This record gives sequence, C-alpha cells and structure tokens, in this order.
Amino acid sequence: MAERTILTADELASVRQPYRAARLLPRRVYHDPAIHDWEREQFLRRDWVIVGREAEAPQPGTYFTAELDDEPLLIIHGRDGELRAFYNVCRHRGTAVVEEPCGKAVRFQCPYHAWIYDLEGRLVRAKHTDDLEDFSFDDFGLNSVRLETWQGFVFVNLDPAAAPLAAQLGDLVERFERFDFAALRPARRITYDVAANWKFVAENYSECYHCPGLHPHLNKLTPYDVGGEYEPNGAWQGGWMELIAGAETMALDGGMGSRCGRPAMSGMTAQDERRIDYYIVWPTTLLSIHPDYLLVHYLTLDGPSRTQIVCDFLFPESTIAMPDFDPSDAIAFWDLTNSQDWHVCELQQRGTRSRSWVSGRYSSLEESVHAFDQMVADRYAGDGVVSPRTTHQRKDVSPDRATAAAPPEASRNGHGTSNGRVAVRAAARAKATVGAQPTVGTAEDPE
Ligand code: FES
Ligand SMILES: [Fe+2]
Repeated sequence: MAERTILTADELASVRQPYRAARLLPRRVYHDPAIHDWEREQFLRRDWVIVGREAEAPQPGTYFTAELDDEPLLIIHGRDGELRAFYNVCRHRGTAVVEEPCGKAVRFQCPYHAWIYDLEGRLVRAKHTDDLEDFSFDDFGLNSVRLETWQGFVFVNLDPAAAPLAAQLGDLVERFERFDFAALRPARRITYDVAANWKFVAENYSECYHCPGLHPHLNKLTPYDVGGEYEPNGAWQGGWMELIAGAETMALDGGMGSRCGRPAMSGMTAQDERRIDYYIVWPTTLLSIHPDYLLVHYLTLDGPSRTQIVCDFLFPESTIAMPDFDPSDAIAFWDLTNSQDWHVCELQQRGTRSRSWVSGRYSSLEESVHAFDQMVADRYAGDGVVSPRTTHQRKDVSPDRATAAAPPEASRNGHGTSNGRVAVRAAARAKATVGAQPTVGTAEDPE
C-alpha cells in the first residue's frame, strides 16, 4: 500500500488541526489488516524500537534473544564490551541459532549442522566447506542489526539507512538526563493479551478523562484534571499528573505514607516526587515515571485487533536489595488499573467494528490523544509535515490547585520543557475562563 493512501486528504485534514476542531482517526485504521501491515512495515522496520534492557546481557559473553516484527534477533555482549544485535538466523540453511531467551556463551553453535559463530557474530567453523567455490567465512557471519542504547533500554533498527536514535528521541534525551534508569532492575513482569488495536492502547494511556469513572482508586491519588502536557521535540509524547498532598506514589494502599520504605529514584527533583510522568516513546513503549519506580509497558502488534502488552516494574537495584523490599502495593495498583484499561480498549475495539461509528471528537482533556493521533497521521501522510503536537492553554486554578498548576521549569533544575511552555489542564472544575485561543506549538520532524 502506498504511503499516501492510508487516509484521504480530507481525513488527514480533519485530524491535522487543533483538537477543538479535529476529528478522531477513521475507524478503519484500527481494523484494516492492510493498514496494520503498513504500520508494521513503516514503524517497526524503519524506526528505533526497544527490544530489551542492557541488564539482560550485562557481561561479555551474555546474550538475550528478542523478536521484532517476527524477526528473530540475538543481542550479544561482546568480548570487547560492546552490545551488538544480529538476526538470529544461521547463514547456512536459516535455522534459528539460539533457542534460549538468555544466557552466557563463548560461541554459538547452530543446532542443525553445527556452524559456529563467535561472540562478534563471525562464522568461525563450518565443516565440509573446504572445497566450495567462492566461499569465505568472512562473508557468512550472522547478519547484523543496528543497535543503540538509552537509559538502559536496548533499541534496534531494522533499517540500515535510518538516522541515529538521537534523531528519533529528540529532546527526550535531555529531559531524561537527570535520571539513571540504566541502574533500574525489574522486580516483576506481567504480560497481557489484549483484544484491541495498539493505537487504542496508546490513546487510552494518553488521557485521564476516563479516570473518575474507570479508576476511582487512581483518581483519588492523582485527580484526573490536575496535570499537563509537555511539548515534544522528537518522536515522543508526554505529560504529568500531580499527586495529592500526602500521597507519595501510585500504590494500592492509597500511596499514602512511606512508599513501603522505598526511597526516591536517583535524580528525582522535589517536583518529580510530587508527580507521575507519563511518556509514549514512539512507537510502542510507554514509560510511567513514579517517584520510586519506573513502570514500562512494551506493546507488541499482534494483528489489527490484538496487542500483547508486557508490563515491567523497574526499581533501583539498591531498593530491591533492601531486606524488607515489597513492591506488591505498586504491582497490585497497576495490575488493577491495567485490567480496567484493557477492558475498555477491548470494548472500543468491538464497538468501532460497527460501520455506524464515524470518528468522534476530542474533549478538552484529550489533547494528548490528539497529539498521538497527529504523530500517526503525519506518518500516514508521508509528506514530511510535522503537525503541532501540543496545544497550550492555561487556565486559572483554585488556590488548592495552585501547586499543581505551577510550571515545572521552576523546580526542574533546567530540565523543563524545551521552550519552557507547558500546557496545564488543571481545574476544569475551577470555572476558569479560557482566554485567548491556545498557542499552537511546533515540533520538528521526528524522522
Ligand atoms: S542451518 Fe545452521 S548449520 Fe545448517
Ligand atoms: Fe486508564
């Protein structure tokens, strides 16, 4: 399918305008197998995608396997300390060379005819090939895949011609500089199989319009209308929500009190400790930064109406090492919240199968959904235009919300948004008058 045929010009135009006038993406982008295939080809095979964590291959000789869009991959920590990615595909007759999800090795021997590859992917042994014409071991090493790391995440890119990872992340790199997420380790992983399109999941993650009804326990800790959006300059989307006084994190016991003794993560500012930050790292990773832990959702596209979601709870190693470490309050909180979210995403998938449904409208608490949809629409368009992805509106807030509405740059120690502007969506209940039309920001091409 050609890039420009995903949406008609009219459909593109109706998404690519300020959210107050915009309409949602058309229903077929959530259901059409051809569009789904196109997205996999364009997003998973041309962009940088996270396939694991550096900590999964921490020393020379350690490795882990992964899959990206059905491509079997092998990530190896080389003797020289470099992390490298290869197709886990024997150059002889195409067998997957490594079966284990992770381990330690000095070399890799294909289980079929025993061709052997070293830790740098070179072919070092292939019996009975001496008399072959025009055959050199040098030409038959494992095919390599581009790999880069950031904050402990291992990204690969299947496109040899793609720009470096930094070009995709944009100013997210700078925004995260104060953190040391490479030092985090998983305390728990939960995998969900959700009968919904991956974009419905990302859109659901982007807003808290649904929180009062769907997540009363969450809404108690971070009221749905107290927060804002960061202005992205790169392929990401992010925002924050303010913890109420007395709450210290998101956890099932109400998050009140001492976070079960868990200290704040390294690099957290005083303001970070009062917020939960939510980021979509394009295309398929969701990062939720809590004062004491990082929640990561990895989405795997599994058909137009199916998404596998791996949910990792990452804590500092030093926190996990505490004798009374117990993350069950945080895990239970998010397992409940996740299940509520996946349920409505599945209902949305079912409902939008109906031809009676035509694209709805964004509420004023769904600017981030619109921003995400614009990222997608820009890619569908393939015209190189990057739509303004965040609108900015400031509203007055009631005095008790004043803290929530304070611009983050005041205490972000230089790590505020790229241009210091932040959209505050606090206080729909404060009866604020919205003054001028929102200033429309601009962002650069994420490509
Ligand atoms: S397929 Fe690997 S050695 Fe034959
Ligand atoms: Fe939710």
